[in-house]
Amino acid sequence: MENVVTRLLQCRDLLFRFGEQPVLDGAALDVEAGESLALLGKSGSGKSTLLRIIAGLEVPERGEVVIDGNIATSGARLLIPPHHRGVAMVFQDLALWPNLSVAENIRLGLSGLRLSRRECDERIEDVLRLCEIDDLARRRPASLSGGQQQRVALARALAMRPELLLLDEPLGGLDLLTKVSVLGQLARLRHELGFAVVLVTHDSVEVQGLCDSLAVLEGGRIVERGRLEDVVANPVSELGRAFVATMLQM
Ligand SMILES: Nc1ncnc2c1ncn2[C@@H]1O[C@H](COP(=O)(O)OP(=O)(O)OP(=O)(O)O)[C@@H](O)[C@H]1O
Ligand SMILES: [Mg+2]
Repeated sequence: MENVVTRLLQCRDLLFRFGEQPVLDGAALDVEAGESLALLGKSGSGKSTLLRIIAGLEVPERGEVVIDGNIATSGARLLIPPHHRGVAMVFQDLALWPNLSVAENIRLGLSGLRLSRRECDERIEDVLRLCEIDDLARRRPASLSGGQQQRVALARALAMRPELLLLDEPLGGLDLLTKVSVLGQLARLRHELGFAVVLVTHDSVEVQGLCDSLAVLEGGRIVERGRLEDVVANPVSELGRAFVATMLQM
């Protein structure tokens, strides 16, 4: 018998179209609790769309999203709203509110959870410390460096205490040292808090720094999926092979 409960996330047979053009067509993806999965795919292949469907921000025409054994999305029906999924997302453009301070950005991220003022304050204090940005609490995003903004977006997502953290290329544009530092911080937090990660990236530094498995999205479906070491030993997709080749050159 299939055991759906040990799997944190199951996406089954997703169909999603913008107009006539299918973006996802038969896409299926499972993520185990605590796993850290790299998601690769060409630009426009539907990576952000897939993440948005998992987060409940977009609804497919067909297929299911099952989280912790509960059907969260079924066909065109959203059965569990985004803030009750235990899923948090850091967006490709970070999506920080420019007119709010760092602390207020994090507070707004918690607004769907119906926590008391005191619980919110505690969580904000917690993640500011965890992400080592306590001293930035009153600043506005525009006054921060790129690396500091990444940490704020990450803190806002972690304050939700997600079981699954979706990271949509959030580290692009960072210099190598800052990237390595943010990756190290993420790996440590993952170890401490135990959440699973899906990281959209093209960067082997990010994959090696954070991920233990890898999937490739192509032609609307997942065409490659496995433990990182197995994919490295025997990549089956074109993008998988190209990625492994660049990784081995390092
Ligand atoms: N609002 C929209 N209206 C119409 N088409 C869209 C819309 N958003 C995305 N698309 C199209 O859907 C496809 C998938 O987009 P998506 O953003 O999911 O790709 P992606 O893999 O995240 O790409 P990238 O690596 O460039 O971020 C693309 O062809 C894109 O042009
Ligand atoms: Mg994208």
